[in-house]
Amino acid sequence: MSSTSEPAGTPEPAEAEPVECTWRAPGRVNLIGEHTDYNDGFCLPMAIPHGCTATVSPLAEPVLEVVSVQREGPVEIALDELAPGALSDDDEWAGYVAGVAWALRERGHEFAGLSITVDSDVPVGAGLSSSAALGCSVAAALNDHLGLGLDRPELVSVARQAENDFVGAPTGGMDQLASIFGERNRVLLCDMRTLDVEPVPFDLEAAGLTLLVIDTKAPHQLTDGLYGERRDACEQAARLLGVPALRDLGLEELSDAMDRLPDETLRKRARHVITENDRTLACADLLRTGQLRQIGPLLTASHASMRDDFEITVPEVDLAVEVLLAFGAFGARMTGGGFGGCVIGLMEPAQARAAALAVVAAYAGRDYVEPVSFTVTAVDGAHRLD
Ligand code: GLA
Repeated sequence: MSSTSEPAGTPEPAEAEPVECTWRAPGRVNLIGEHTDYNDGFCLPMAIPHGCTATVSPLAEPVLEVVSVQREGPVEIALDELAPGALSDDDEWAGYVAGVAWALRERGHEFAGLSITVDSDVPVGAGLSSSAALGCSVAAALNDHLGLGLDRPELVSVARQAENDFVGAPTGGMDQLASIFGERNRVLLCDMRTLDVEPVPFDLEAAGLTLLVIDTKAPHQLTDGLYGERRDACEQAARLLGVPALRDLGLEELSDAMDRLPDETLRKRARHVITENDRTLACADLLRTGQLRQIGPLLTASHASMRDDFEITVPEVDLAVEVLLAFGAFGARMTGGGFGGCVIGLMEPAQARAAALAVVAAYAGRDYVEPVSFTVTAVDGAHRLD
């Protein structure tokens, strides 16, 4: 601190060494509203206790060094080579970190050498947005470290640009919104056209409920073609129906849309999105008035729609849903991008253990990889750790 009693001519104090800066950002469970985000629709995710911490510190060399506690060796990129395509496929995970730095520079924020260390406990490839936790923790930590003053929507946008344009995964933005805007005991009703986020009460404990997650271990991967194929089909259906996005069609237009689409696959994809938007809004309505148990049938109907119309489930996932329902879940569904990943079941806490064990037994009977289960609550989004 400067003082007026300092003698004139005292040299300026040396600039303080920039300190390390650490932020944590969570993964997410999407309660309902799947594959609606890139259709400008509605989804209802919540941030979960699993997350990623990112620590940024300065480096003397003009290099971006990316270190993961969970992986071998640092990945290094010269700052003048920081661009999409700079990393090998093996280092794709580091693209979520480098991509954020690149997206910031694309927006005119310059920086010197940096080391970024990440440490995540979000299961990878389980559909719980380990990648959004990674990208958002890095975006928030860099924003703080570099003093950029970006607000939360801008952080979402930077993390999303890294995933879409640097890593090349054509995802729809829900995961980053959940990771940045998460709130304790709330799900977030996200309008993916306006990017408005409405926190809706979801206090599981107060309602005497638990949200059981079964990680089916059936691998899930968003950079392969299937996610993009679904997205293309939705965009094609919207074009043929003459609307900017499937979000623009409500249940009252469903039957007309079905008549007008030329093939069965497009009809099924569009029907999923149109009905899923409706279920998501209905779910938010119930939760606003504290009717947590009553959302169960909407969750289960969402699963059936993903299985039969959007065709993104796999046998492991369908089996876990069936077992949870047989063991007393009010509702159960796959969560996330699909083709594997996690199933959620809304249940009484007393039934969760038996239900989880029943899933393990059912998997053993079919020689599936043993699933892992845990419960989650809704937690706060990205925050600084001191
Ligand atoms: C992934 C994507 C999201 C969203 C979901 C499906 O998690 O990252 O943008 O499309 O799949 O709802």
